Amino acid sequence: MLYFIILCVYYFLVVLSPVMTNNITEDIEVLVFLPQNNSYLFSYARVAPAILYAQQRLKIEGGQYSGFLFNIQFENSDCVNDAMFMLADRSCGQKPDLILGPVCEYEAAAVVRLASHWNIPVISAGALAAGFSNKKTEFSHLTRIAPSYVKMAEIFTAMFEHFTWKTALLVYEDDKEERNCYFTLEGVYHLMADYNIKTYAVSQENRLDADDILQKIYDTEVVIMCMGADKIREIMLAAHRQQFTNGSYVFFNVELFNASSYGNGTWKKGDKYDNAARQAYASLNTVTLLRTVKPEFENFSVEMKKSIEETGLDDCQDCVNIFVEGFHDAMLLYAIALHEAMRNGYNKKNGMKITSLMWNRTFEGIAGQVSMDANGDRNGDFSLMAMTNVEAGTYEVVANYFGVNGTFQLLPAFNIDKIPSKSCGLGMSALTGVSVGAVLGTAMLLAFYFFRKNFRITIERRTHSEEANTRKHYQLREDSIRTNF
Ligand SMILES: *[C@@H]1O[C@H](CO)[C@@H](O)[C@H](O)[C@H]1NC(C)=O
Ligand SMILES: *[C@@H]1O[C@H](CO)[C@@H](O)[C@H](O)[C@H]1NC(C)=O
Ligand SMILES: *[C@@H]1O[C@H](CO)[C@@H](O)[C@H](O)[C@H]1NC(C)=O
Ligand SMILES: *[C@@H]1O[C@H](CO)[C@@H](O)[C@H](O)[C@H]1NC(C)=O
Ligand SMILES: *[C@@H]1O[C@H](CO)[C@@H](O)[C@H](O)[C@H]1NC(C)=O
Ligand SMILES: *[C@@H]1O[C@H](CO)[C@@H](O)[C@H](O)[C@H]1NC(C)=O
Ligand SMILES: *[C@@H]1O[C@H](CO)[C@@H](O)[C@H](O)[C@H]1NC(C)=O
Ligand SMILES: *[C@@H]1O[C@H](CO)[C@@H](O)[C@H](O)[C@H]1NC(C)=O
Repeated sequence: MLYFIILCVYYFLVVLSPVMTNNITEDIEVLVFLPQNNSYLFSYARVAPAILYAQQRLKIEGGQYSGFLFNIQFENSDCVNDAMFMLADRSCGQKPDLILGPVCEYEAAAVVRLASHWNIPVISAGALAAGFSNKKTEFSHLTRIAPSYVKMAEIFTAMFEHFTWKTALLVYEDDKEERNCYFTLEGVYHLMADYNIKTYAVSQENRLDADDILQKIYDTEVVIMCMGADKIREIMLAAHRQQFTNGSYVFFNVELFNASSYGNGTWKKGDKYDNAARQAYASLNTVTLLRTVKPEFENFSVEMKKSIEETGLDDCQDCVNIFVEGFHDAMLLYAIALHEAMRNGYNKKNGMKITSLMWNRTFEGIAGQVSMDANGDRNGDFSLMAMTNVEAGTYEVVANYFGVNGTFQLLPAFNIDKIPSKSCGLGMSALTGVSVGAVLGTAMLLAFYFFRKNFRITIERRTHSEEANTRKHYQLREDSIRTNF
């Protein structure tokens, strides 16, 4: 009898356990939503090669993940409804085990709701709006493999603390379609609730009224902008004319994904204002993603450029970007989580379990370490670029922010004279001073209510002039992700 038990245990350990640990096999249906339209940095032609690269690597090198057979199906995302309709059509057929994308906020909102309801994990290098941070209900199965806009805002809270700033004006361009700049600065607004923040929306149709914007600057210290390069230049030129660039104010623009379009040279347009623009840009600092590279990345980068050029996309500037990296790493993260789930006796259909295993962990991604917070959002590293040579008009990275440990690090290139550190006058900043005391909650609430109301008025004023049809569409989309503005 004893012999029999020993035999059983032996059999279990030797014969079965390798099957349960090292040799897990599974077919996995992956549905990927990416736009065919190459005007997006995350288009199919740019990102698909990275997903296939990850699939190859998992199969060949992975060892413990080589038993996963990924069957990848690519579908179009038009950033409106395509992805959601495609997924809804699957409601009676076989459902995917994993969804990658969409990136665009409104489309992602619909897809993630449905996927969460169906218990399917979604990993996106997009869906960066603050509204997705609430994973309690409808976005429960979303994992964000690129740093969200709220994570980006951390570099601003770090700087505000470091330089003891208290007030800011947020100026953003609102296209009322994908609303990237709206959501970008919403992240700042969301995180900086206990500072004095004013907002100003620039509509795309109307002519930019730089002087109107600059009137709002008077009682703030910092201006944070998200806009197209031409509009930024226009505002900086107007600010220069009014002597706002003499060191009393700090200007930021946020350009996370296409950093090559800023810094060196953007002030230059070959018109008669180049010289003034160069001087004005000495006050303009750019916040962008911090890019790290490790030796293996070179190979990936070369392979990606090759694949992308094969598809006829000749302009490969910025073509290996955070979306490309992110979707690559999404495959790794899923493989790690699924493997762990299966080793513990769960199967691939347990989307909630697999999702939870992707959160609160650090793993080695294609470009470096990827750290996911306990809410399933990637911690982000960001850089601050500033003009370091005003004669030549060239930019350098002058500071870095590391999301993992919340460290703000000034580099030697940083020039202290160019960033004023002061608490400005009376007015609104007096209110903040009071709010540090006992009335903190009330003051914050009041400020929030006040600015919310302000913002509503702006929206209403704008929508009145629009046709009824557009307005309806716009309001529907407005409701689709809860926003803080
Ligand atoms: C996994 O199983 C296959 C056959 O099913 C076998 O060829 C392979 O050597 C096993 N790998 C490991 C790591 O046990
Ligand atoms: C691609 O997207 C851009 C910007 O959204 C748009 O202007 C263009 O018409 C689109 N192209 C096609 C073929 O849909
Ligand atoms: C900058 O110019 C403003 C007037 O626009 C003036 O009030 C302020 O004192 C000047 N600051 C410096 C540092 O020269
Ligand atoms: C990135 O910026 C450059 C320079 O402004 C621009 O030509 C290019 O179209 C941008 N790329 C994307 C994908 O937006
Ligand atoms: C890059 O990958 C290819 C194919 O996987 C391999 O042959 C080559 O040695 C790699 N190059 C480097 C520099 O690692
Ligand atoms: C995250 O993981 C760490 C250990 O790696 C653990 O101590 C912590 O409790 C986890 N946090 C949550 C919210 O699960
Ligand atoms: C700008 O140009 C200078 C000198 O040409 C170079 O050292 C620097 O890295 C460039 N910065 C950016 C952000 O491209
Ligand atoms: C924070 O993290 C970064 C990147 O991992 C590292 O370089 C830096 O030394 C860390 N700083 C502190 C204070 O731990």
